[in-house]
Amino acid sequence: VSERTIHIGDVADMERLGARLATGLRAGNLIYVRGPLGAGKTTLVRGVLHSLGHRGSVKSPTFTLVEPYAFDRLTVYHFDLYRLKDPEELEFMGIRDYLRGAGACLIEWPELGRNVLPEPDLDVMIEPVPHGRTVVLTAHNNPGHAVLRGLDT
Ligand SMILES: Nc1ncnc2c1ncn2[C@@H]1O[C@H](COP(=O)(O)OP(=O)(O)OP(=O)(O)O)[C@@H](O)[C@H]1O
Ligand SMILES: [Mg+2]
Repeated sequence: VSERTIHIGDVADMERLGARLATGLRAGNLIYVRGPLGAGKTTLVRGVLHSLGHRGSVKSPTFTLVEPYAFDRLTVYHFDLYRLKDPEELEFMGIRDYLRGAGACLIEWPELGRNVLPEPDLDVMIEPVPHGRTVVLTAHNNPGHAVLRGLDT
């Protein structure tokens, strides 16, 4: 397990962190994006998607739970489980096919999928602090370490 702590100033800073995360992102990656309401989880994901070439807006896929974004290099599945009522719904939506499949999964509110979701490659925890956000990134395996290394390239 290796860990990085990064201080984020404003929204643009958070989107830049997303772009750095995108550098090392690979098909099959599972990334949790955690933190309280309004922490900046979707802002971070927006940074990832914009840097990969997405032009439009990025909203949390609240009612559908998942939104796919296909790029040449890879497909990203953006999940927001905030409205998940029962982790079992994940089985019904075919979560197994998304995980470890052809895409990278970024999941907001993974806590709500407890007992169904596997351990992530990388856990991103966003904590609001007085002048921005503290972001702690924890890699749990080699694919996670690779994403962490991508932050510096
Ligand atoms: N440094 C910062 N990083 C990210 N967002 C910030 C920052 N400072 C202020 N904000 C504001 O905080 C809000 C973050 O919203 P965002 O939708 O990204 O949060 P979220 O964690 O996805 O929330 P939710 O739990 O509702 O999905 C935005 O309104 C953004 O403008
Ligand atoms: Mg969100």
